Formats: sequence, C-alpha cells, structure tokens
Amino acid sequence: MQEIAEFLRRTGRNIGFVPTMGYLHEGHVNLMIAAKDECDILITSIFVNPVQFLPGEDFEKYPRDFMRDYYVCKQAGVDYIFNPEPDEVYGENYKTFVNVNDLSERLEGKYRPGHFTGVATVVMKFFNITKPHFAYFGQKDAQQVAILSKMVSDLNVDVEIKVCETLREESGLAMSSRNVYLSDKHRNEATILNEVLNVAKNKILTGDYEDAKTLKREMKEYIETKTPDCSLQYIAITDNYLLKKIDDLSDYEGEVLISLAAFFGKTRLIDNILFTKKI
Ligand code: PAJ
Repeated sequence: MQEIAEFLRRTGRNIGFVPTMGYLHEGHVNLMIAAKDECDILITSIFVNPVQFLPGEDFEKYPRDFMRDYYVCKQAGVDYIFNPEPDEVYGENYKTFVNVNDLSERLEGKYRPGHFTGVATVVMKFFNITKPHFAYFGQKDAQQVAILSKMVSDLNVDVEIKVCETLREESGLAMSSRNVYLSDKHRNEATILNEVLNVAKNKILTGDYEDAKTLKREMKEYIETKTPDCSLQYIAITDNYLLKKIDDLSDYEGEVLISLAAFFGKTRLIDNILFTKKI
C-alpha cells in the first residue's frame, strides 16, 4: 500500500483517504463521494481496529462482511481498499501509541478510557501507509474529529482533515454500523436522541432555558419519560475545539457541541449536534 501511495504521489495524483471499520452504510458512502469529488484517487481502509475496543466491548461481535463492503466501495468509486489483518498492523512487541491528552479523556473518553489512543494510533499509522492529501471523517463522531484535528495540528501531519455531515435515516436516527444490533422497538425509540438534541439546540438559540445544568437535566428527564427502555449515559454541552464544558451558556459565543451517549438494551449509541451561537 505504501509503495502504491508513493507511486501515486510521484505521478502527481491527489490522494483522498476514508478510514472505516467496514459494514459500510450511507454515512460512509457520503464520505467516499466527497473524497471522490475532490481527489484523483480514493483509498478506503476497512479495518476493525482491536486497540480502540476496551475489554468487554464488541470487538468480536462487531459486524463484518467484506464482500458486501467490496461492492459498496466499487459502486462508490473507491480505487483501493486497504484491508490488513490485525497482526500486520500490530506486529509482535508493538509499542508505540499516539495519545492526544485531555481531549481523549473527555466525553466518550470517560466511559471508554483508552479508546481514542487506539483511534489516533491507527489513523496516524494509516496516514503513513496511505499518504493521503485529504482525509474524510464524519461529524457523527465529533470527538474523534476534534482529537484527530488536534493530532494533525500538534504533530505537523501533512494531511488535511475534511469533515462531512452526519447522515441520518428518515426517522432522524444517525446511521451507524451498530444499528444492526437494535430491535425494531429500540430502533424506533432511538429516534428520541436526535429529537432531544434538536429541542436543546432550539432552546439554546432562543434563550429558552435556565442554565446549562438545568437544560441537561430536562433533556435527561425528557428521554427517560418518553422512552423508559433508554438509559442515558451522559449528555454534555461543550465547545467544539477542546471539548470543554460550557457552564455559562448565556455569555458564550461560538460553536456549541451537544453530545450524548445512551443505551438501548445492550446497544450503546452516540449522537451530537453542532451549531453556532451568537450573544
Ligand atoms: P467507523 O465507525 O466505521 O466510521 C468511519 C467513518 O464514517 C468515521 O469518520 C465516522 O465518523 C463516519 N460515519 C459513521 N457514521 C456516520 C454517519 N451516520 N454520517 C456521517 N459519517 C458517519 O470511526 C471509525 O470507524 C473508526 O474510529 C476509524 C476512524 C476508522 C479508526 O478505526
């Protein structure tokens, strides 16, 4: 892959890269279409990265279907699929990890310690292997975008990060490879997450709230009253750069990120909404 990427660069081609863990859906395809539009060559990786899963998480169970993904990639115009085996990526005695301090411990990081070290490490490795000019990520994983952008800036990585909007089903549910775990009932109920994020956004923009803490409590109550099967893990209102909590919303100007994680049965879903607030 490195030799191919090097050849492509030397022959003047612009490389776009879309890293994925496979079981591709329209959210992934949306990134591929954006990359294909802006670059000469599109490389996609399909790799369920073991080091970003914590013990007890769904690494073994994570859905995999290479042939299906292969056809999706073909349709989307992917030029190269990079699909290594875990022991090719992490050889015996593997020792080097990339950690974006502080940002990695916030939000998701509180509940999935070590997760973002795994993400940053594999993305850095894959940047070195696929040598892209542009790399495409989804806003669905807002914290991942913030962390990788910080990594690229702090380590002077010569790759430009492009962010694409979250693709949703008609119901508003954010597309995710993990949605296959949901029962029909939970799939219906999970639409509450996008609903409550929009309600909160509108409240903030119209000033129809007391303070950030009360607003978060109201959102939690709203979810738990309407969908008793849902167990909300966290809800956070932060900036979109260092992911720091915004306590005094009324005085805050700039991008506001509301993110949350919730369980429907054993399935853990995340979602977020990003908007600009003026005083
Ligand atoms: P994965 O969950 O497969 O997602 C691959 C890319 O697709 C990520 O950039 C993610 O944000 C984006 N994506 C997922 N669902 C989306 C949706 N509904 N709308 C828009 N984009 C969406 O994220 C990972 O894999 C991994 O952490 C990875 C970066 C590949 C490193 O292992």
